Amino acid sequence: MINLVQQTLENLFTEYINSKNIFLKKDALSLNYTPENVSYREEQMKQLGSVLAPILKNNKPSNVFIYGITGTGKTLVTKHVIDQLKKIANLNNVEITTLYVNCKMKRVADTEYRLLAYILSLFDVHVPPTGLPTESIYKIFFDTLKNHKEIIILTLDEIDALVDKIGDEFLYNLTRMNQYNEGNIVIVGISNNLTFTEKLDSRVKSSLCDEELVFSPYNATQLKNILSDRAKVAFCEGILRDGVIAKCAALAAQEHGDARRALNLLRVSGEIAERDQDFYVDEKHVDFAQSKINLDYIMEAVKVQPKQSKVVLYSIIKLLEKEGKPYIYTGDVFSYYDNLCKSVGLKPLTTRRVSDLISELEMLSIIETKVISRGRHGRTRVLNMSVSDSVVVKIRTFLKEEFLI
Ligand SMILES: Nc1ncnc2c1ncn2[C@@H]1O[C@H](COP(=O)(O)OP(=O)(O)O)[C@@H](O)[C@H]1O
Ligand SMILES: [Mg+2]
Repeated sequence: MINLVQQTLENLFTEYINSKNIFLKKDALSLNYTPENVSYREEQMKQLGSVLAPILKNNKPSNVFIYGITGTGKTLVTKHVIDQLKKIANLNNVEITTLYVNCKMKRVADTEYRLLAYILSLFDVHVPPTGLPTESIYKIFFDTLKNHKEIIILTLDEIDALVDKIGDEFLYNLTRMNQYNEGNIVIVGISNNLTFTEKLDSRVKSSLCDEELVFSPYNATQLKNILSDRAKVAFCEGILRDGVIAKCAALAAQEHGDARRALNLLRVSGEIAERDQDFYVDEKHVDFAQSKINLDYIMEAVKVQPKQSKVVLYSIIKLLEKEGKPYIYTGDVFSYYDNLCKSVGLKPLTTRRVSDLISELEMLSIIETKVISRGRHGRTRVLNMSVSDSVVVKIRTFLKEEFLI
């Protein structure tokens, strides 16, 4: 037995080592890779550059707020402009400090305390990970800022995630300090959420959004060119068949015009070709990549749902299966859900709350609902799954294991 396994493994590894390489430098397709060229964003670079330029003469610029959907180059452009600014500042002996915080990172901006501690650590000031009262840590923070006479650029990337987690108190305190002219800190806030500022206190909003920069989605041609540049570095020569890049670009453009999505598609296409030990990447691999990414996205969304929502989803799947019809009535879901709650020892929610959970599942594109007329019984909402049958099976298997039913 052992020999057999060993033999199989030997074959597998030997085949692998003899197979043709797909990637030359896969890292070039990762989201953190810094590309040599930043295309299509001259306008935004100029705008951000002119807002920040006064720093070079030791004048404090306005705060900047940058927004646009994911994958439109906000992080890339901001980092690029700030790097260039630092370079010129260094050459001219102007001192500036630049700090970058990705607020979406775990354990960085989960609480006001953690965020302050994290920013202080960027100044090399270390405070205990918990325990100090918030006022004390604010005092250390403001004292640290005051010790710095130079202008500080604080980039708060994914700032919408920050406000979702800890509210806008921190931003309020920062901007208030700046208003009294004691401040030497410029905030560059970056958000993927376009309506984010509506949640802010009006004073924070007006201070944070002194200057606004908008990043619009890319079209298919732009995505194609962005991908081509990266593909030249990432893949071995002659590996990509015609049409692969155009297809990744077209699919991503159809969705939101998101370069992140386009790069992921291209990377996963290459990985699938590599796994199948193919000698090239063609459009078929892109199709597989597209369904794999969709599946990953949906499974991820299912996994992080609250328990109640999972029970609702499981009820929908089971009921559809039981009835064998193209759709089921919302009313039937409520009663099936009630029973299911009892068998898993959960207290059922009100119909109204279940209705909300159904709407949330619909927003995630896991299910779809529509209103139909039932003749003299009036109108009613019906629902069915909006993912393919194979995905339904995966979700059902996952939920079944989770609930052991
Ligand atoms: N104009 C561009 N030129 C080259 N690469 C780009 C461009 N815009 C985005 N990218 C690449 O696409 C990916 C997503 O960009 P990113 O700046 O992270 O987007 P955002 O911050 O808006 O979500 C990154 O890998 C980035 O290098
Ligand atoms: Mg970003």
